[in-house]
Amino acid sequence: MHQNNNASIRKISENLNIAPEVIGKVIDAFEALVNNDPKSIKNKILRQMCSKEYKDAMFAILDDISYKLALQGIDTVRSKIKNENKASSEQDTAEAKNRTANKILIGNYKGGVGKTTSTYQIALALSAEGKKVLLVDLDPQSSLTEICFTVSNEMLGELPDKESLNHILYSQATDSSSVIKADNIIKSTGKLDFIPSDLYSCYGGLDTIAIDYMNNSMDKLLIIRNFMENNELNKQYDYIFFDSPPSDNIITRMAFLYCDYYIIPTKFDRLSARGVKHYIKTIQKVYEKYCTDNNAKKMFGSEPRLIGILETMNKSIIRSDPFKFAFEDHYVFKTIVRHHVRIAEATGRGESPDYHGSKDNDYYLCMLEMIERINKLEGRNK
Ligand SMILES: Nc1ncnc2c1ncn2[C@@H]1O[C@H](COP(=O)(O)OP(=O)(O)OP(=O)(O)O)[C@@H](O)[C@H]1O
Ligand SMILES: [Mg+2]
Repeated sequence: MHQNNNASIRKISENLNIAPEVIGKVIDAFEALVNNDPKSIKNKILRQMCSKEYKDAMFAILDDISYKLALQGIDTVRSKIKNENKASSEQDTAEAKNRTANKILIGNYKGGVGKTTSTYQIALALSAEGKKVLLVDLDPQSSLTEICFTVSNEMLGELPDKESLNHILYSQATDSSSVIKADNIIKSTGKLDFIPSDLYSCYGGLDTIAIDYMNNSMDKLLIIRNFMENNELNKQYDYIFFDSPPSDNIITRMAFLYCDYYIIPTKFDRLSARGVKHYIKTIQKVYEKYCTDNNAKKMFGSEPRLIGILETMNKSIIRSDPFKFAFEDHYVFKTIVRHHVRIAEATGRGESPDYHGSKDNDYYLCMLEMIERINKLEGRNK
């Protein structure tokens, strides 16, 4: 690595004002990472972190090197997506006819773990690959909606009452025969479509609607599914993502029962590991509770499957041990989302963090891995 990259090491060294030998060592460590040798990477990083000089250098050049190297590991997936896109542009009409969206819930009962950020950034990465994506904001706080409105230059406070998820839920809950058209409700940022949650709705926020107008009856649990199917939205999108609030209510349950998959973003510490286990257990119980007979199973389809647990806001580069012991490797995304102010700031603006003016950021890698994991779950070899 050193010999081959002396020139780039010198360049990085000049740019960052860090000794070339420090950079060489850090590159070695990351090379071990992409060669998938976790023990060796950990030892190397730990050794280097003993020195403050190395630690600072590690973080300073992380953006410049590590993700470029990590990309090598999934280059194959990326070229597959490109081929897939090429093929699909050649047979656009045929594909549109056969399209069935992957429906994915992003959830965790813990707050502030990056659910909304992950939903938005994974969707943005998919859209950069030419995929059609719909976002649904299930959170009464409307954070995802606010992000999307920032891009489309609209104000949540000015959203008409009939143009939100609140309207769909309230109308169906109070009059199940009403027909709700998607046209006015689906908004667009230009890159992504979304169904807003309206904090200021005349029907009340989503939390109020869940308590005041809903019960656990079958017809209520089917509201989201019926809306999607009546408007054929699952045929218009490649992916539909639901961003959950950090809590459980009838609205998150109806979305879960409609979904094919779910992803759990989380920080990796001991308490979070317990929280994730609890979340998985609880969400599985939701399916068991409502899908007790064949009739219900026919209505709700098969049980949503866990795509993976995604580490977010990582500050230490390596995984924490308690988390590693809590879950078998195959449940955990290999991709790690770093704690980085750029991710928070870019998401606030509705943009991708684009580290180097390219798509090579944590969530782009996460999107690639998500596709790979879905294909694996489905036994596809795409
Ligand atoms: N990788 C990251 N690096 C730095 N900051 C981040 C990162 N991901 C998210 N954040 C910030 O952390 C805060 C919480 O993130 P986010 O809103 O995505 O979490 P959440 O799980 O959706 O929260 P809630 O439970 O309230 O819905 C936000 O201010 C966000 O900008
Ligand atoms: Mg959120």
